[in-house]
This record gives sequence, C-alpha cells and structure tokens, in this order.
Amino acid sequence: MQIIQYPHPTLRHTSKPLRRFDARLRKIVDEMFELMYAAKGVGLAANQVDLPLRFFVANLEADPAARDQQRVFINPVISKPKGQKVGEEGCLSLPGLYGDVTRSERIVIHAYDLAGNEVREEAEGMLARVIQHETDHLDGVLFIDRLAPSAALATRQAVEDFETIYAGRQQRGEGPSEKEIAQQWAQWASEYC
Ligand code: NI
Repeated sequence: MQIIQYPHPTLRHTSKPLRRFDARLRKIVDEMFELMYAAKGVGLAANQVDLPLRFFVANLEADPAARDQQRVFINPVISKPKGQKVGEEGCLSLPGLYGDVTRSERIVIHAYDLAGNEVREEAEGMLARVIQHETDHLDGVLFIDRLAPSAALATRQAVEDFETIYAGRQQRGEGPSEKEIAQQWAQWASEYC
C-alpha cells in the first residue's frame, strides 16, 4: 500500500459505499494510519491509497502516540453546514502544495465506525475542515478544485508539474494502465460494496 499522487485516476473516482466490515478492512485501516503518520498528515481517504471505497481515517494530532484520537469514518454523509471559514489546506496526494480553501465552519457528520456502529456528531473547526476535505476525496474532489482564482493561478505550475511527472511514468510503463486501474476498482467493489 502506498499513497498515490495527483493525477492518478483513483483520486477522481467516486467511491462506492462499503457494505462489508471484516478483518481485512481493519488491517487496511491500520496500514492507512501508519502511512498517514509517516507522511505527517491528519487525514487520509481510501482512494488516496488506491482503494475505491467510501471511508477515511483521521487523527488531528497527526501522532501515532495519540492513538486514542484515531477516527475512522465509513460511508460519511455531511449535513447542516453552517458558517464559512477560510483556512490553509494541503494534501498528501499533492505534497508540498498549500492553499486557502473556504469550508463550512460547522457541520453534522453521519457515518459508521469499524464495528459497524452508526455515528452522528457535530463537528467544528479543524475536525470539520478535515471531514469536508476527506469526504471531498471520496467524491473525486481535491482541494485544488476549491481554491480561489488567485490561489489557483499561484499553484497552477506546481499542479502541472505533478501532471507531467505522472504522464512521464505512464509513458515509461511504470504504473498500471487506466484499464488495469478500472479493473481493480471493479474487483474491490465486487468484494466490499
Ligand atoms: Ni487530501
């Protein structure tokens, strides 16, 4: 397992709801937390590790010593957005890139945990921002899609550099083809969705 970078097609894929909660999924979640901590992130969506499944992990402490702060949000649905707040965001699939994004200040998140229990809570501040960023991922949306025009212009070259690097790897046959990626999506969906 590894974190994929923009513009890998799985980052633009709309993830399907999970219907199966098993030991393999718990192992996948553990591995995602390890990758997230190694990259010093606070959240990681399943499609960022090339899994077309509707869940994400988060730990606002970004610290493996704070495992009590680990959260898994499965099939998340956001509702009741209130207020607006601008804040700087980055993304482990676009390392080194940062920009201001306007998000709802408060939201209600409805999801399931790893045990299949229903979770409903109000979130604000950093947690609300992370939940919105990660839920966007599951819909194939990246924070660069939500930058103000001036910020989008400022980061355009860096975004194009990611595209050039990815195209070069594909041309050299270093990554799976789009067809192989789509086959993987279908395989995961048949097992878990
Ligand atoms: Ni991200």
